[in-house]
Amino acid sequence: MKTNNTRQLTLESLEAIPLTYGSIILNKEMFIQVLVETKTLQDLISLKNKLIVLKDIITNHKKDQEGILNIDANGDTVSLRRDVLTSELNQILESQTVERAKYYLKRLENGVQKVKTSKINDINLLRWKEYDDIITDSLWVLDKRDTSGVHLGWYWGNFIPQIPHQTLIRYTKKGDWVLDAFVGSGTTLIECRRLGRNGIGIELNQEVAREAKKLIEKEQNKDNVVSEVIIGDSRTMNIEEILTKHKINQVQLLIMHPPYHNIIKFSKDEKDLSNAKNTEEFLKMFGEVINNATPYLEKERYFALVIGDKYSKGEWIPLGFYCMNEVLKRGYLLKSIIVKNFEETRGKRNQQELWRYRALVGGFYIFKHEYIMLFKKK
Ligand SMILES: C[S@@+](CC[C@H](N)C(=O)[O-])C[C@H]1O[C@@H](n2cnc3c(N)ncnc32)[C@H](O)[C@@H]1O
Repeated sequence: MKTNNTRQLTLESLEAIPLTYGSIILNKEMFIQVLVETKTLQDLISLKNKLIVLKDIITNHKKDQEGILNIDANGDTVSLRRDVLTSELNQILESQTVERAKYYLKRLENGVQKVKTSKINDINLLRWKEYDDIITDSLWVLDKRDTSGVHLGWYWGNFIPQIPHQTLIRYTKKGDWVLDAFVGSGTTLIECRRLGRNGIGIELNQEVAREAKKLIEKEQNKDNVVSEVIIGDSRTMNIEEILTKHKINQVQLLIMHPPYHNIIKFSKDEKDLSNAKNTEEFLKMFGEVINNATPYLEKERYFALVIGDKYSKGEWIPLGFYCMNEVLKRGYLLKSIIVKNFEETRGKRNQQELWRYRALVGGFYIFKHEYIMLFKKK
């Protein structure tokens, strides 16, 4: 839920990774030509000598006789992260055999010439080293919330934009469709717009949905994607009708960030999951949302669930794991459980101290984490 103290992962830094880290724009044809020529050399010393010249051009901007930096010449250009390119060249220069050096050269050439992506995202696996803002560890300690643009963080109970951002980059391609069944203030749909994904969000609370719509509309829509917030109950919403309107049958990513039962009361509406009478009823309601949405998620695509645990009468209720079980009962494969830090910054200092005292007395720990669980539809 809401944290103010999380690491900044702005859209710009993810979208324009090569530029953020200092990119170099090369004349693609010339660059490939040099790599191919280098590959034809039969002895390691002459091969390395040729590469030293190339490295000089790239790192020191020495006189570029090969025309590698001549981007005015006819032909395509390629933008590479300077530090990654330098490290690849160093790896070749450190090779002990000519075969190994040629293997690395071929790999570099492929990275410049080809694009290799999986079925579920646009990450170019031939240049995977350039994506170091994509988190692949299961522990996320984010120290700054992304508050760029219309991400105002006004809604108590929202998630940090980095969650949908990371999920969209890993599990969708440009132009894919995303369904968020508890869209709240629209964080997911704002990120969808930034990344060129179509987004549909369902929200029970009319006022919140109205505010979300206004903000989403303020976000630039350079890829002309659909962003639709629908007011209603995710358990019974006619999803088929919504999708048919957009001439699609299924979505490629499902996101759910339900209330963590009654930790925050979102409304007085009895259809609101935060008003469930007890944990059993909450899980039943959550199960109904999964039942309603699952048929509309494409096979082998992902479902991201953001959820936390809770305390009740001195007992830790593992709500996250109970919810995980509800998902697993319904034909999904568990791919990852991410633990993300969760800083309660709104609390006053003396309140925090009180909690610490209570924790020491009561033998419990203060919540500082929540889960992002990733499932794949079988
Ligand atoms: C944890 S918040 C989601 C916040 C959202 N991720 C964001 O960044 O703003 C949960 C939301 O679910 C909504 N909600 C609760 N029960 C619902 C239901 N049955 N159908 C649709 N939305 C519901 C609440 O009104 C609340 O806005």
